[in-house]
Amino acid sequence: MNLAIIGLGYVGLPLALQFARSGVRVFGLDIDAKKVAALNAGRSYIQHIPAGEIKKFVRAGKFSASADFAKIKNVDAILICVPTPLKKNRAPDLSFVLDTGRVIAPHLRRGQLVVLESTTYPGTTENELRAVLERGSGLKAGKDFHLAYSPEREDPGNPQSRVAEIPKLIGGYTPACLAAAQEVYARAIRTLVPVANCRTAEAAKLLENVFRGVNIALVNELKGVYAALDIDIWDAIAAAKTKPFGFMPFYPGPGLGGHCIPIDPFYLAWRARQAGQETRFVELAGEINRAMPEKVVARVAQALAARKKSLRGARVLVLGLAYKADVDDDRESPSYVLMNLLQARGAQVSYFDPHVPVIRPTREHPQWAGTKSVKWSRKIISAFDAVIISTAHDAINFQQLAGWSPLIVDTRNVMAKIQTAPGQVWKA
Ligand SMILES: NC(=O)c1ccc[n+]([C@@H]2O[C@H](COP(=O)([O-])OP(=O)(O)OC[C@H]3O[C@@H](n4cnc5c(N)ncnc54)[C@H](O)[C@@H]3O)[C@@H](O)[C@H]2O)c1
Repeated sequence: MNLAIIGLGYVGLPLALQFARSGVRVFGLDIDAKKVAALNAGRSYIQHIPAGEIKKFVRAGKFSASADFAKIKNVDAILICVPTPLKKNRAPDLSFVLDTGRVIAPHLRRGQLVVLESTTYPGTTENELRAVLERGSGLKAGKDFHLAYSPEREDPGNPQSRVAEIPKLIGGYTPACLAAAQEVYARAIRTLVPVANCRTAEAAKLLENVFRGVNIALVNELKGVYAALDIDIWDAIAAAKTKPFGFMPFYPGPGLGGHCIPIDPFYLAWRARQAGQETRFVELAGEINRAMPEKVVARVAQALAARKKSLRGARVLVLGLAYKADVDDDRESPSYVLMNLLQARGAQVSYFDPHVPVIRPTREHPQWAGTKSVKWSRKIISAFDAVIISTAHDAINFQQLAGWSPLIVDTRNVMAKIQTAPGQVWKA
């Protein structure tokens, strides 16, 4: 079996390696020439993916990367893992998916399988993607080629999470499409979960992510409510989670980050509006979660004021730039929002992140491009008036932080386990 995987990012690359591991020959396709070159040279650009594995499969001829999309002529199946971001007005941006469809359509052959993996609103595969594939190829989905949707369930930064072990949903455009997709995925994934059709699989993926977004919003809201009642939300969650049924712990934080939870729910909201339906939970959760960085900054100002200091002119360190512990992914990270807000209030802002030594250019935060993480030393860290713990990487020595920093604003409750002086740590 030969496969093409299009989009070699956080989703596509681990998937490609899992197929290679299972003995399938994989062509990775990406428009980013730097990624293509890195992979063929056996280098990794994602921290948790070891270069050694890439090198091994490239050498064995099991994996190669390319920007030549005509290569899809030679494969049995094409899996699409390209980005699905939002536009400025929070409408879905399907351009990456549809561009991919347009580029591969002229090379499509009878009998091939095309699977979309990118998160998107229900209907994308059987409507928009099918239309561009059929138009560009002259072939019919379900008759000449197979079409399916199978969402990724990657859990970055979790060493226990193995692509092969995570049950995978699959919806087909027709029963034959589903069977073809099951045959392909069965080579690499242990448990497959067939569902009624593509749109059900798309909807299930969104349900999973909306569920997270809404529950995080709930604890973010309760954090403030409980604080007003002199109750620590972290204690309340620790207590509630001893219930062996009907409860699942979610934790508050400085806001949402990553390529999924801040974005995907709005794919559903947009599609729902088109169908004349409201998604009030999605909108409300979005509002609450987006308001978190403001609240954290207000707490920093309050903590500084208690020491007769003003945020204006204060030296503030944001600890953790990645959106999640133990990863190097800084997309949509609330740490950027914190840095922007602090700077707007006149603070002098720096960051420390062992996984993000320097900020790469991004569309969203061009002003921070090239900024480097400060070094971790007593002299440097103790010179900041306040440190905000935004992301609690395991690699950060919080014990040392307690010894060095005069004022710590903790959004992750990591300092709870560490001995600190009265008034040194403010939860936010
Ligand atoms: N990151 C996650 O944890 C995660 C989890 C589940 C689902 N998803 C979904 O998977 C999809 C991909 O996310 P990701 O995190 O892997 O993104 P990513 O940005 O890490 O990777 C996407 C890759 O696609 C490439 N690309 C962009 N346009 C292309 C095109 N036209 N042709 C070929 N390659 C192209 C980019 O160069 C990049 O390498 C998204 O829909 C996302 O919502 C992500």
